Amino acid sequence: MKIGLIGATGLVGSVMLKVLEERGFGDCDLYPAASERSIGKTITFHGRQLKMLSVQSVIDSGVDIAIFSAGSAASLKYAPLFAEKGTFVIDNSSAWRMYEHIPLVVPQINADVLAVHDKIIANPNCSTIQMVMALAPLHRAYGIKRLVISTYQSVTGTGMKAIKQLMSERAGEPCLMAYPYPIDMNVLPHGGSFEPDGYTTEELKLVNETRKILRDENIQITATVVRVPVRGGHSEAVNIEFARPYDINHVRQLLQTMPGLTVMDNPSENLYPMPLFAEGKDDVFVGRIRQDNSRENCMNMWIVADNLRKGAATNAIEIAQYIVKQGWIK
Ligand code: A2P
Repeated sequence: MKIGLIGATGLVGSVMLKVLEERGFGDCDLYPAASERSIGKTITFHGRQLKMLSVQSVIDSGVDIAIFSAGSAASLKYAPLFAEKGTFVIDNSSAWRMYEHIPLVVPQINADVLAVHDKIIANPNCSTIQMVMALAPLHRAYGIKRLVISTYQSVTGTGMKAIKQLMSERAGEPCLMAYPYPIDMNVLPHGGSFEPDGYTTEELKLVNETRKILRDENIQITATVVRVPVRGGHSEAVNIEFARPYDINHVRQLLQTMPGLTVMDNPSENLYPMPLFAEGKDDVFVGRIRQDNSRENCMNMWIVADNLRKGAATNAIEIAQYIVKQGWIK
């Protein structure tokens, strides 16, 4: 099998390489590409040194699957060119996610929306993926009416420049700023860019992508996205209002049996999910599961995941695994 990786020099690209190796794609022919600046540089994949290629030469190679993590502009430009050649594109950018004809997929939840003719497949936003992993079984059981979300997002979601800003500030060294303010010893109520109504683009992704994946346009959703000086993963406090009365023990059972989700919830032993623990792991972790005593049919929970893993690379590669399993690669 031939796999293209567009954005192979990036932060998510480097995790994609690891997850591809871990998930049995190590013996595939890998065609790594990045921007023109990187052509000729090398990366290591499964013990082999591979030269970075131009995107056009990866298109010409007729790869079976192309995984993109190179930003929206590159996805908009090149994904259709791959698709025309019959390549399955799995796109980690936000470029294609909200088009009606483009599947937006978390395999544990809605792989059934995929068909062999879907050649551009969107990987959802990192914060959305980890949240819907915990919400999907509850939505099926009780119908989610409303969500109030606050996120505590890792600097890794912004990219290498943001990690450098955090580490340089911590070391007291000058650096290029990824954010408009210092991020160390600070929190920024700001993810993406501001819309005229005061919400940010990252907040809108949580609203729109959640409705699309859970196939329910009626869920009322409001979100505040916050960037915190953390590396290992994103955390989310989510308040859920159900359409029907729920049983908190049944909620726990549903979460415990959801594939890809680990319940970590024992307050008496200070057991709850944290980014330091989630870093490098593929699962989504849920804890602080409790009734909201202020309002009927409402509950709270805390969701943590490594945003570079399940929030990006792992989910994309699980989509690739699904495509392979369906026998769609000839
Ligand atoms: P390059 O390293 O050559 O700039 P990150 O999200 O960590 O910033 O990484 C973005 C990734 O996307 C990098 O691999 C980057 O390559 C790649 N990239 C950016 N623009 C393009 C483009 N127009 N075509 C192909 N790859 C791109």
